[in-house]
Amino acid sequence: MTEPKRYLVTAALPYANGPVHIGHLAGCYLPADIYVRYLKAQGKEVIFICGSDEHGVPITIKAKKEGITPQQVVDKYDGIMKNAFKDFGIDFSFYGRTSSKTHHDTAQEFFRNLYDKGIFKEEITNQYYDVEANQFLADRYITGTCPRCGNNNAYGDQCEKCGTTLSPTDLINPKSALSGATPVLKETKNWFLPMDTIQQSAQFQEYIKRFDAWKSNIKGQCSSWLTEGLQPRAMTRDLDWGVPVPVEGADGKVLYVWFDAPIGYISATKEFLLTSHSALRTSHFEDWWQNEDTALIHFIGKDNIVFHAIIFPMMLMTHGKYILPTNVPANEFLNLEGDKISTSRNWAVWLHEYLIDFPNRQDELRYVLTSIAPETKDSEFTWKDYQTRINSELVSIFGNFINRVLVLSDKFYEGKIPVINTPLTDEKLLTCRQVCFDGVAQSLHAMREDLDAVKLRDAQAEFINIARAGNKYLADTEPWKLIKSDAESVKQIMFDALQICAKLAIAATPFLPHTANKLKAMLGDENMNWNDLFNEIILLENHQLGKHEILYKQVEDEEIQKQLNRLEEIKKAIEEQPLKTHNLAELKPDINYEDFEKLDLRVGKVLEAEKVPKADKLLKLTVDLGFEKRTILSGIAEYYKPEELVGKLVTVVANLAPRKIRGIESQGMLLMAGNDFGKLYNVSTEKDIELGSVVK
Ligand code: MF3
Ligand code: ZN
Repeated sequence: MTEPKRYLVTAALPYANGPVHIGHLAGCYLPADIYVRYLKAQGKEVIFICGSDEHGVPITIKAKKEGITPQQVVDKYDGIMKNAFKDFGIDFSFYGRTSSKTHHDTAQEFFRNLYDKGIFKEEITNQYYDVEANQFLADRYITGTCPRCGNNNAYGDQCEKCGTTLSPTDLINPKSALSGATPVLKETKNWFLPMDTIQQSAQFQEYIKRFDAWKSNIKGQCSSWLTEGLQPRAMTRDLDWGVPVPVEGADGKVLYVWFDAPIGYISATKEFLLTSHSALRTSHFEDWWQNEDTALIHFIGKDNIVFHAIIFPMMLMTHGKYILPTNVPANEFLNLEGDKISTSRNWAVWLHEYLIDFPNRQDELRYVLTSIAPETKDSEFTWKDYQTRINSELVSIFGNFINRVLVLSDKFYEGKIPVINTPLTDEKLLTCRQVCFDGVAQSLHAMREDLDAVKLRDAQAEFINIARAGNKYLADTEPWKLIKSDAESVKQIMFDALQICAKLAIAATPFLPHTANKLKAMLGDENMNWNDLFNEIILLENHQLGKHEILYKQVEDEEIQKQLNRLEEIKKAIEEQPLKTHNLAELKPDINYEDFEKLDLRVGKVLEAEKVPKADKLLKLTVDLGFEKRTILSGIAEYYKPEELVGKLVTVVANLAPRKIRGIESQGMLLMAGNDFGKLYNVSTEKDIELGSVVK
């Protein structure tokens, strides 16, 4: 593709049902912001869109829980979320709301457009219905066991464990999230997007060629859906909270939240163009959404992939006027201290709480979250690691370099850029200088390539490498000593070091915007810009530097301990909750002894264990049953390392009919016990029992 004329960057509209935590930030909003700041720094034309997703079952469930109306829920959280993003420097052009009039109109118009073209299939189907609550159970109103990975808490629209999109009727043991009751099926009419036929269309087949250039996690997920074959999906729901379906015979129905929410990007763009005071005000909506010169880039988390890479593009495509996504950089998930981040269990670091304990230290958190960004696989935030990265990288490398240079400049030259009378001649000093220049040039080059490729974690590491090269230059030449014997050479060294400070100030712009501004002021030049980055000289001789201060303070052990204590308390609270509030699976109906006897449980020993390629959850085990060896696939890769299992005794369901998973035949099942804190335990047996013994 030729260089786009403009960039329309979106970050997933978060559900307005809770405050923002570090997982949100690391997964989607921070990478989007860094990328947008990078584009803007180069003078590109960019609109950066986000907003609150105010429809859908997550909102109504929250309302029910808090005893308020859905509107009250979204009014409360829309502001909280918007402010949290602002506090952390996430610089949206516009933060919209899907409850706005413009959005309702836009979403209805869009639906109407497809409806008039005859795209939808109108169908009467059986949907789950909660008799007690008197309502249909769409999407997250229903939970059950995922047919694909066995997760007991899968939702009616999606399993968050394995990422599969589901229909409520796919769930095993479905349960109403409203009353806990087992739902009944009831007929209702809905409008379906025929994803199966759209998949076959030439246009869609052409579109999916784009996946080749996308990150492998997206390619992987998408190609597995496409191979399985897409199914028609209802774009309307029997619910009372949402955008009303704008056609006849649809009373009491609203648009499916995943139909209306991505249209939120479109309506927010409209609202931005109407209200903006920026230079973009005069640009036209059509230039952004309906012009092939625009690059459309969706930043999202991995649970949103199918909606952004397949369903929304199908909507845009069948509408006909819209451009399709150029890239969908989706991140995996961030875990916290060994466990999944969970809003409902309060297992999270909330942005607003972070700022109470670490006021004005948002760039520190940005830095850490970018260093551990889950770009290719799930990653983990720990407070110890937070402390280490800040103290040994931001403070000791970057902060320290800046501070040394500015302190010495004050001392030697009263805060001015020194004037060089004679160039360096000393061989050793010249070599140190060359090493430094080569290092800086190489890192700048790599940083730019990484930013272009949206590899932000690597890009930020290169940014730190620039400071590293600067530090090494000072350590190798020791200007604080050299000043006594060779003040002329020191001028050159300090001049160089100050240029590196300026490069750092500019290069920090996308990653650490607060720091970048501060540093530019400290260097006495707030106008330096991205194009200067590759110039040898940015600050001219005699230029007066500003006042300097320490950029980052050390993170102390006590500060970290306080955070760990807080998490410890939360964990205790979760574990002390009465059993019934744990999401324990409902007791299944009684079986009789004959039913039980059908099960053949045996003691086995794990001989070999290995990961299954491209399946995060699966381990492939070879289990010795004494009389024979079995290959068994087990979804326990998140809980056990392969080497931990080798030699362990396990209980095996030995007469479960073999099943092919990922092309491998699994010849049995291990018995494992799990609780809702994501732990899983091997239901093992005593050591000295004979393999193959029957478990009764
Ligand atoms: N609200 C959804 C979530 O938090 C994301 C919606 S993204 C959009 O998972 F495309 F629909 F806007
Ligand atoms: Zn699953």
